[in-house]
Amino acid sequence: MHFSSVLSVLVASSSLVVAVPPTDRPTQINPDLRLIKTSEADPGTWVTEDQKIEEYVAKNIGFIDITDITVYQNATTLAKLSTVEDVSLVQAVAVSYPSSLTHQTQANTLINSLNTTGPKSWLKTLSDFYNRYYRSSYGTQAGTWLLGQLRTIAGTNSAITVTTFAHSFSQPSIIVKVPGTSSNLVIVGAHYDSTGGSSTARGPGADDNGSGVVVLMEALRVIAAAKFAPKNTLEFHFYAGEEGGLLGSSAVFANYASAGKTVLAMVAQDMAGYSPSGKVSVYNDYSDSGLVSYVRRIVTQYTGLTYTTDTCGYGCSDHASAYSNGFRKFELFRNQDFGLKVGFADSELAAAYVCDEPIDTSSPYIHSPRDTYDTVSFDTVLRHAKFTVGFLVEASYM
Ligand SMILES: *[C@@H]1O[C@H](CO)[C@@H](O)[C@H](O)[C@H]1NC(C)=O
Ligand SMILES: *[C@@H]1O[C@H](CO)[C@@H](O)[C@H](O)[C@H]1NC(C)=O
Ligand SMILES: *[C@@H]1O[C@H](CO)[C@@H](O)[C@H](O)[C@H]1NC(C)=O
Repeated sequence: MHFSSVLSVLVASSSLVVAVPPTDRPTQINPDLRLIKTSEADPGTWVTEDQKIEEYVAKNIGFIDITDITVYQNATTLAKLSTVEDVSLVQAVAVSYPSSLTHQTQANTLINSLNTTGPKSWLKTLSDFYNRYYRSSYGTQAGTWLLGQLRTIAGTNSAITVTTFAHSFSQPSIIVKVPGTSSNLVIVGAHYDSTGGSSTARGPGADDNGSGVVVLMEALRVIAAAKFAPKNTLEFHFYAGEEGGLLGSSAVFANYASAGKTVLAMVAQDMAGYSPSGKVSVYNDYSDSGLVSYVRRIVTQYTGLTYTTDTCGYGCSDHASAYSNGFRKFELFRNQDFGLKVGFADSELAAAYVCDEPIDTSSPYIHSPRDTYDTVSFDTVLRHAKFTVGFLVEASYM
């Protein structure tokens, strides 16, 4: 996760933010540099790959890498990243989220099959890679390992496909699809790259975001083994290059937008394993209020917890990629005080973030060599897996 309290304030006062036209991009002076934006109003700064990690990620300054945006995307997307209002939605479909939960017996049967055996073993392996930096050979090796694991887990249901989504860097994103009778998509996502604060540092990335990855793996395990047959198509996304400025998820959602895919709901989970006081946080900026209410209902039903709210800031996580491409997205974080955090935004654009803690009390170890396996709480991981399965079952019938 990337965040910055200063930037949260900027988002909160978004009515003052002026769009930066794509034509105002600063001129590139060196082809090896990357263009990053730290706020709606920021026209962008050209930096090296190492500067992104050392001067932004390591200092918890949120940013989005927009270098490739003219390749993958277009002016509409860039405009959405540059203003939080008055941007017409190209791709968003009008979705009415159900006002009640109707598949509790089916969801609870699956939830009762969840356990932490797989998550413990998977997270140990993920955090044992020296790092999972998206431009390092370790990051590529982690991708190869994850692909193999996902094929094994999904192998209990031959209807499920596991494919890679290639990027301009070697680490691929990975997409697992559980086909439904409708091609409309319900997506859960987490990124699997990590950083230790520089391109060469040890980066176990256990909480950020190994924990979100193993939550999705465990949810996939029970959904595959039960041969759950959804109405809407379910996808599990494992993104590459998030720490490089949301690179993996940006490319995936831009591709989906240009292919005209319909995404009914997207929930990103990142940092789902560090929760000293046992709450879940649902972040509220860049969120769709209808989807937030729906997710809040699911959290309460399937984890038995209440919830709280927080804001996460510009470029905080992969949900910004769904948002900027006009898709609905929601992220769930773990949170400290045995409650779930949910937030609301007036915007019709949906993009939210669910996490294990509010910003102030989130893991002090992320983006450093100290984000290790032994700082992760598997009760928290299990709670997020319950939420994930509840969400996928309920939303599959939407
Ligand atoms: C973890 O995932 C979140 C959301 O996808 C992202 O914002 C964050 O930067 C990730 N952190 C690490 C260290 O990978
Ligand atoms: C827990 O999950 C593992 C797979 O990771 C499975 O083999 C095992 O049977 C499960 N245990 C229970 C008690 O459900
Ligand atoms: C911009 O992207 C949107 C969404 O993919 C698409 O509908 C639109 O036609 C694109 N505009 C141009 C000028 O390419």
